[in-house]
Amino acid sequence: MTSIFDTIKSIAFEIDHAIKTADLGYSQSENSSGEEQLKLDVQSDIIIEKAFASVSMVKDLVSEEKEGVMLLNPEGKYTICYDPLDGSSLVDVNLSVGSIFGIYEGELRASNLVASAYVVYGPRIELVVATQGQKPLLYRANNQEFKEIAPITLQSKGKLNAPGGTQQNWSASHKGFVDGLFSQGYRLRYSGGMVPDLHQILLKGGGIFSYPDTSDKPHGKLRQLFEVIPFAFIYEQAGGEAIDNKGVRLMELIPAHPHDTSPCFFGSSYEVSQLKKAYGIQH
Ligand code: AHG
Ligand code: MN
Ligand code: MN
Repeated sequence: MTSIFDTIKSIAFEIDHAIKTADLGYSQSENSSGEEQLKLDVQSDIIIEKAFASVSMVKDLVSEEKEGVMLLNPEGKYTICYDPLDGSSLVDVNLSVGSIFGIYEGELRASNLVASAYVVYGPRIELVVATQGQKPLLYRANNQEFKEIAPITLQSKGKLNAPGGTQQNWSASHKGFVDGLFSQGYRLRYSGGMVPDLHQILLKGGGIFSYPDTSDKPHGKLRQLFEVIPFAFIYEQAGGEAIDNKGVRLMELIPAHPHDTSPCFFGSSYEVSQLKKAYGIQH
């Protein structure tokens, strides 16, 4: 697994360089979710594909920017599902973006995720790596090298609320939940990039990030294999919780298709209990 994490570290520097120097325009194509692709989305995808091609333990790749599974090394053990550039529409306003990696062994379902990682491209580059049975580890880049900083532990109650989706399209129970948190003094923190938004909650000790089912997106927006499951694993490893709109752990998801989405909630245990109450979910 070390060679996978080392590869993610070198990918982080390459993508960071591309973000800082590449053309910010659109490509001529759409991805599998029907979203317009930026040239940077495509470039980041190619950087990742090339980097893993020489890592023999990686069997195949599934990218947010490509349809289907891409076979790399038939003898390999792991499938890496990744979002090459999360929040890419924020690059032109110079906000933080990220890359997300889920490392699966066997069939592509949450219970087969063995490790996950994400990179934040902000004022500095940071990396969080989570493996089974350990707190997620934070690394920070300095002089083109990642230095281990600290394990991440989520408090049982925080102060931040990051509610995604178009408010007009929220359900009454979701609106009640969000209003309820604000009336308890929670502060709004939402940039529109799930990587920096979830990273902020993790590092500031707690809170909740939600991307619910909405009237325009009844299955949510965020994709299970590359976005939802990798972060669900990280939040659980940090001592938090990650559930869907029915109260089912996101770590029990079984995607029918690589680009399937799910409503998702990641947070500290107090905020998740508030969510369950507002949604009428039995504990
Ligand atoms: P991507 O750039 O990979 O398509 O992902 C963007 C995602 C995620 O980062 C963010 O939380 C969400 O879209 C924001 O969506 P809304 O603007 O609908 O809240
Ligand atoms: Mn994304
Ligand atoms: Mn993306």
